[in-house]
Amino acid sequence: MTLQAIKYSNGDLAIIDQLQLPHVERYVKIHNSEEGWHAIKDMRVRGAPAIAIVAALALASELHHLTTHNQLSPNAEDVQVFVTEKLRYLVSSRPTAVNLSDAARKLETVVAESARAPSATGKAVAGAFIQAAEEMLVKDVEDNKRIGENGAGWILTNALGKHAKATVLTHCNTGSLATSGYGTALGVIRSLASTGSLQHAYCTETRPYNQGSRLTAFELVHDSLPATLITDSMAAALLASRRAGVNAIVVGADRVAANGDTANKIGTYGLAVLAKYHGVKFLVAAPLTTIDVKTKSGDQIVIEERLASEVTSIRGPREGNDGEGVELVTVCTAAKGINVWNPAFDVTPAALIDGIITEKGVVEKDSDGVFHLEELF
Ligand code: MRU
Repeated sequence: MTLQAIKYSNGDLAIIDQLQLPHVERYVKIHNSEEGWHAIKDMRVRGAPAIAIVAALALASELHHLTTHNQLSPNAEDVQVFVTEKLRYLVSSRPTAVNLSDAARKLETVVAESARAPSATGKAVAGAFIQAAEEMLVKDVEDNKRIGENGAGWILTNALGKHAKATVLTHCNTGSLATSGYGTALGVIRSLASTGSLQHAYCTETRPYNQGSRLTAFELVHDSLPATLITDSMAAALLASRRAGVNAIVVGADRVAANGDTANKIGTYGLAVLAKYHGVKFLVAAPLTTIDVKTKSGDQIVIEERLASEVTSIRGPREGNDGEGVELVTVCTAAKGINVWNPAFDVTPAALIDGIITEKGVVEKDSDGVFHLEELF
């Protein structure tokens, strides 16, 4: 059975609570945009495509409820204003991933067009929004499957060297939990596995939030893929190891600038530097919704900074307490009073990236070392 992070049907939205994974598999319902905003801000749902889709569906659920309870304004313009304000609020939850603002901009256009139609009603505008939000959920999975195939094909052609199968290192969580399903970088690993071409997958722990050890490891175990967890500080030793034989590092992205500079989970940049030193291919897997041609280069990307407590503490069940009714506890791991810097993302320069895997194909640099991402649109 495939893992489903987002469940949605007819205005009923539920997400798997990623704060409790992998210890507890519990879905929480999201009824409106306020609950959606908090779920994103608190990281109950995370991952660039997933937060965009949950934001859109949270507002779709709210509009569904207002419509069925006759609480929606009959006036098309009123509903357009309502939706626009809610979308701006949702976008304020997390700044770095462009998917959220990209989805909001597309949905604003949908409601504006619907409100302009002759004899438009509030209900019709809400209906147009709901339909567009639901379509985003479906399209994301289709795009991820293509990303998976394109990335797997590229690795098999360009990165194997003398190996018959691919060994891939990934960072953070880019799988079913970070998207509508299947995943981007993890989708590439899934696709390699589906054709018998995966030798081994390595995932980093991804401190401070442990998306790798909690979420990617959970997905790899769920799918019974051959995989090993390492701490972030072991990556250099892994790449140096002939026995491990890593062929490629594949990561996701929160925002790819027009020149290919890529914001992704903190630690990605370090992995790209290591890949260059060790002659290992470094690939970014991202749907077109993550490519932001309006942002010219990485220095224009706003990097979210998060709470110090994510660095100074760690959360999990007490040892041995992993059955029914598991209780999660937070343990402090740092000296009290120490200053903390906690950027959630870093920017990997395009110069360190060998290819950007999209649903339309893998983009490589030209002979002058320049990506032409605008040609994808
Ligand atoms: O802070 P997070 O967990 O939302 O960060 C997630 C990442 O950095 C992912 O690599 C990225 O969003 C791509 S998910 C397909």
